[in-house]
Amino acid sequence: MDYLSCMKQRRSVRTFNGEALREQDAQAILSFAEKVENPYDLPIEWKLLDAKKQNLSAPVIAGTDTYIAGKMRRAAHAEEAFGYAFEKVVLFAESRGVGTTWIAGTMNRAAFEQAMALEHDEVMPCVSPLGYPAARMSLRETVMRKGVKADTRLPFSDLFFRGSFETPLTPEAAGRLQTPLEMVRLAPSAVNKQPWRAVVDGDTVHFFEKRSKGYRKDDGWDLQKVDLGIALCHFELAAQSCGLQPVFTLCDPAIALPENTFYIASYRI
Ligand SMILES: Cc1cc2nc3c(=O)[nH]c(=O)nc-3n(C[C@H](O)[C@H](O)[C@H](O)COP(=O)(O)O)c2cc1C
Repeated sequence: MDYLSCMKQRRSVRTFNGEALREQDAQAILSFAEKVENPYDLPIEWKLLDAKKQNLSAPVIAGTDTYIAGKMRRAAHAEEAFGYAFEKVVLFAESRGVGTTWIAGTMNRAAFEQAMALEHDEVMPCVSPLGYPAARMSLRETVMRKGVKADTRLPFSDLFFRGSFETPLTPEAAGRLQTPLEMVRLAPSAVNKQPWRAVVDGDTVHFFEKRSKGYRKDDGWDLQKVDLGIALCHFELAAQSCGLQPVFTLCDPAIALPENTFYIASYRI
């Protein structure tokens, strides 16, 4: 699979052309999802859901009835693990011409959780429709994209640093890490907040969450850590595509952090 092209091309698809998901695409995506591993080794159970039969609805989605969802036990790092794994599935779908949208909020969640037979110690962080993009976006989708400025991303040097948070990193100075970091920059995130930050320290890249207000629940569940899992996925896949061998590690560098910034994970190159 050409992951770099998939990461560059992917956008959220909310308007589908009405064609049912072909059986070979459905089966390929489900069996890919079932084999995806994550750096935290946390198991995820996947299901394809039928919106019509199971009374599911996601008001911003039109033109498809098929969804994919994953559920897992609540555990430390569940958010990052889910973000990493689900994004791999999203990119695989993209490689087959199947459109997706990460959905954490705009759905009748109770019905989806029932369809997933969610148990009390489990969580179903997000779902995605699966289908073939319509030639034109609905008005609702266009308005929604404008609302979150979905076609823009923060500049490279606002997100990535060298040695400490005091020294911004330019794309030119990033050398062999330029493409992997650029693929992190392009990643999807909840409300397009792009909460990922990275500090390059020698041969190690440390990832941090720059937490926004309102995404962390009282029980500790933090949707922006799902975004960080997506960032880790893009970094690892892009680094591998560039011939590097990124090794996942948890090694907090204990550097001075800006406000509301938290260590997540690192890759050694
Ligand atoms: C964890 C997560 C949750 C999201 N939840 C929703 C959602 O509930 N509804 C929705 O329409 N889009 C949702 N999105 C899609 C984002 O709005 C979208 O990825 C972002 O605006 C960037 O646009 P793009 O995906 O087209 O690049 C979510 C994305 C992520 C990563």
